[in-house]
Amino acid sequence: MDLTGKKIVLGLTGGVACYKAAELCRALTKAGASVQVVMTDAAGHFITAVTMQALSGQPVFSSQWDPRVDNNMAHIDITRHADAILLAPCSADFLRKLAHGACDDLLSTMCLAKQRQLPLLVAPAMNVEMWQNPATQRNVAQLREDGVVFFGPAAGEQACGEVGLGRMLEPQQLLEELIAAFQPKVLAGKRILITAGPTFEAIDPVRGITNLSSGKMGYAVARAAREAGAEVVLISGPTALATPHGVQRINVQSAQQMHDAVMAAVDAQHVFIAVAAVADWRVANASDQKMKKKDDGSVPDLKFEQNPDILATVAARTSLAGYPYCVGFAAESENLLAFGAAKREKKGIPLLVGNIGHHTFGQDDNTIILFDENGHTILPRADKLTLARQLISEVSKRLDKYSLFQ
Ligand code: C5P
Repeated sequence: MDLTGKKIVLGLTGGVACYKAAELCRALTKAGASVQVVMTDAAGHFITAVTMQALSGQPVFSSQWDPRVDNNMAHIDITRHADAILLAPCSADFLRKLAHGACDDLLSTMCLAKQRQLPLLVAPAMNVEMWQNPATQRNVAQLREDGVVFFGPAAGEQACGEVGLGRMLEPQQLLEELIAAFQPKVLAGKRILITAGPTFEAIDPVRGITNLSSGKMGYAVARAAREAGAEVVLISGPTALATPHGVQRINVQSAQQMHDAVMAAVDAQHVFIAVAAVADWRVANASDQKMKKKDDGSVPDLKFEQNPDILATVAARTSLAGYPYCVGFAAESENLLAFGAAKREKKGIPLLVGNIGHHTFGQDDNTIILFDENGHTILPRADKLTLARQLISEVSKRLDKYSLFQ
């Protein structure tokens, strides 16, 4: 589990988004974290300590004068063995207190007394005007300068009925952000373009040809790259997957659309990772109208033409311009070692990732082989996110050596 062994101090301040903190707490414990909840008095107006205690499995602290703490120094003891403090929801008033070093209740005193290396992660939740108010923005800027990390806020409809920035991120997004906070930032400052999923080649307006790619591996690579600190653009064929938090997703259907979207975005990228299962052919004589079934039993005479090879096209430009660093994927049903090395050469790319067998489509686990100029390395069977993190780490090591980035 992603947070196994992690000790998280979850701070709740006054805001209606406290109702989401219950689910967040549950998500954190399910991900393996041990959660110590600390609430302000204002938070207690929105959710009870009993609920948070039941979900975290630990007594909740809210008072500086809690007789349960032997030395009466809860503000110091609570964080000393923690791996992070997450304030969710964090109100505008609590941002003010943090920015000014206030220490007039347990939570603010605890934040002031925390050791400097302990990450302070903040999920703001407030009305849009409160968030946009220059006073709040001054506090946010100050806190960023002080090393506080912000998760959100998101834009959208608010509990007060107004619309705009200020909503707390959803519990699942906060969980993703917290997990990301613990990942090494090996791609900080890098821009990464990723293709994922199948493509869909139309036969007529309601029919088409596609493949069994679920997009899971590409989405895992996008999430892992974002966790590593990269700015990520994900160009995706049709999938049912949720966009990893913080990733910019561009939806396409056909291989030609994927090609065009990649070409429009590729110039600014340090790395291009082609995970998509792109259709090799499209229907050359696709119909604008829905084809009718014929009474005489005759069937459509479909003609095919070849789609552009997106990866090979980008790789060919790479050799001229020096970037992006290109990574391809290959699924071969047999003799992967020989085919993998040959495919890397044929595509003209520095790194190729081989999937062992076609049965990887739709699965959560995989075994992959990395082919580069020095030979091959096997990454043993693991879930796709674990493999994606290993791949991103391997890419970052190779990037360091890549001429343009020296
Ligand atoms: O040639 P093959 O389809 O086996 O190569 C697979 C790799 O090439 C994958 O990285 C895939 O995303 C990429 N590819 C592409 N455009 C195509 C076909 C494959 O980018 N038209």
